[in-house]
Amino acid sequence: MRFENMSSKLHRDKLFSLFEEDQEGVIYLRGGEIMYRYGTDYEFPFRQESNFWYLTDVNEPDYHMVMDLKSKTYHLFAPKREAAYAVWHGRIKPNGEIKEEYQPDKLHYDNDLLTVLNDLKPSVIYCLNEEQAEFLEDLNRNFNVETESLTDTITYCRCIKTDDELDKLRVSAKVNNEAHLAAMKAIKPGMYEYDMKAVFDFHQQKNGLLQDAYSGIHAGGKNSAILHYTENSKEIKDGDLYLIDSGYEYEGYASDVSRTYPANGKFTGDQAAIYQTALTALNKVIEAVKPGIKMEDLHLAAARIILQGLKDHGLVKGSIDDLMEKNIFALFFPHGLGHFLGMDTHDVGGYPKGVERIERPGIQFLRVRRELQPGMVITIEPGVYFIPALLKPALEDPEKAEFLNADKLEKLFNFGGIRIEDNLIITEDGCENLTDVPKEIKDIEKVMQG
Ligand code: GLY
Ligand code: MN
Ligand code: MN
Repeated sequence: MRFENMSSKLHRDKLFSLFEEDQEGVIYLRGGEIMYRYGTDYEFPFRQESNFWYLTDVNEPDYHMVMDLKSKTYHLFAPKREAAYAVWHGRIKPNGEIKEEYQPDKLHYDNDLLTVLNDLKPSVIYCLNEEQAEFLEDLNRNFNVETESLTDTITYCRCIKTDDELDKLRVSAKVNNEAHLAAMKAIKPGMYEYDMKAVFDFHQQKNGLLQDAYSGIHAGGKNSAILHYTENSKEIKDGDLYLIDSGYEYEGYASDVSRTYPANGKFTGDQAAIYQTALTALNKVIEAVKPGIKMEDLHLAAARIILQGLKDHGLVKGSIDDLMEKNIFALFFPHGLGHFLGMDTHDVGGYPKGVERIERPGIQFLRVRRELQPGMVITIEPGVYFIPALLKPALEDPEKAEFLNADKLEKLFNFGGIRIEDNLIITEDGCENLTDVPKEIKDIEKVMQG
């Protein structure tokens, strides 16, 4: 499936609409360039910078763009390629084809950028960062370049998705659902984490999704308690939990899903109890998601549910209020509940200007403190982890130790962790869950036992 319509036209119109009708000046963005590994000629696959892709639909290196605010004219600047480019990198697109594909109001070569800007005589040039500002000032010392406001303005556009963007996210999520299911069906003790990565990546790539949205996490046993584990190299043993957190992009739009299950297809008593704790937190939060709700309230609600589950299983003790007050939840759930999802996995817009992080263990890593609105897309990803680096010092700290059952916790130092992560579109009255991969214990066991 390919979207033939120009999503970027809608995005540019949205951006134009945030400026006064008679606003002077231009917006300038520089697209991405090919990146190389350190000083070598090893080339990373090109992936456009997200703001540029959002506003142009161009996923090719070495472009620039200018939006003239007063005339609402969109100028695209294509690289002027030498013949050698065709030898090493492929055919040079004729201008007619570029114009047809990207539909700028005006198409130029990149070496015309200075002439075009000089002709426009902008009173101000809005750009994203200092590097681009310096590039412009090197072109013409007299340009008045402003880097303070454009990031926020584009971010404001990007955090509420258009219908086209939601459709792209749905495609990405659908393939991701299938890939996760394929992985869940494939796992067996004795496989290596990279075997599971191969199953998962194969499924994405045979569906034409070639770009991973982030470094996939394929973690068996105690590696599942390493939040950003990417080694993916160890053997998965009988009795291990296995945590997969992976997703690919469709036309620049990401999916980000986690599942955790027993490698041998059958939860042990401890695994089931702790898994159910994380799952109850996920299910309850999803029920509560709707416009107007605050992610920090959901985060704290999830923390209470997790503490209750741990208490029921005899791992912590005391009242839930006391456990919350002493931040005991952060020992087991040390990351944020979720984040915006879009062209970036940790998508932009979580913190509007003036809103700060909450300085409290665990919740300090929450990536969204913006009131949820229809058209926003978020992940919800509660977790329960047994991380010796957090638990050992807590067991030695009398203020915390009184709430912890040391005997039981010490036996779980190699347990690993559980994260269950779904992707949600906020709708008028709740949410649409894009993730459809088994997560109830009985459903997982049914799939895994064939
Ligand atoms: N995989 C990164 C995250 O879940 O946020
Ligand atoms: Mn996530
Ligand atoms: Mn994830």
